[in-house]
Amino acid sequence: MSDARGFGVDVGGSGIKGSVVDVGTGHLAQVRVRLPTPVPSTPPAVAEAVAEVVARFGWDGPVGVALPCVVKDGTTLTAANIDHGWLQTDARAVLSGRLGGREIAVLNDADAAGLAEVRFGAGRGHHGVVVLLTFGTGIGSALFLDGELVPNTELGHLEVDGHDAETRAAASVKEEHHMSWEKWANRVSRYIRVLEDLVWPDMVVVGGGVSRRAERWVPLLEVRTRVVAATLHNDAGIVGAALAARERLAR
Ligand code: BGC
Repeated sequence: MSDARGFGVDVGGSGIKGSVVDVGTGHLAQVRVRLPTPVPSTPPAVAEAVAEVVARFGWDGPVGVALPCVVKDGTTLTAANIDHGWLQTDARAVLSGRLGGREIAVLNDADAAGLAEVRFGAGRGHHGVVVLLTFGTGIGSALFLDGELVPNTELGHLEVDGHDAETRAAASVKEEHHMSWEKWANRVSRYIRVLEDLVWPDMVVVGGGVSRRAERWVPLLEVRTRVVAATLHNDAGIVGAALAARERLAR
């Protein structure tokens, strides 16, 4: 394998996706593998699925794993859209144990997506305060100042009109309630307006699977800040996790 390759796995609410990544270009080096997220998504069950994804590629190097949790020093501290067994779990040890003791980098999924977008995608070359928001099962956030990540921001849980923002404006809410793009974009606008009054970003990058349909909803947003669509879409988490493993970016 070439020296510019890494391996990333993105653990989401519905799927666990992974691939070999060319960390020089940010492209997937092979077609990604996606397995359904086990139910319940306990640490051992997820570790098993991660090991299965890695094994499909015959990869034996370090692996980066993005989880929908606050992660500090390899320990997962929150579990909003994943089994509560991840609370206060040494995720690095659980994953490494299942993967033959190899080196594992564990980080928040939105932070992983942000690292990829800032290095290779919509955030590339942008200075100042950049916020990446991922719209999926929940809302994830990654905050950057001059390209440097401030990890674990959890801005998807801002309180908006008395509600946890992600329960109103995540992409899964649009899907569940068969909401029109207009109605959902109104909710996203309301959310970003609260966020921009608190953080004052120079740019907001919107990601997650719905960023593939950005032309349907980004032009409808009524917010002060410049909003651009992510360019790595659903691969951003995989790419960022691989970068974290290669460059020891996880803290
Ligand atoms: C979690 C975040 C995660 C986001 C996207 C939120 O519910 O609290 O840690 O980044 O979902 O998966």
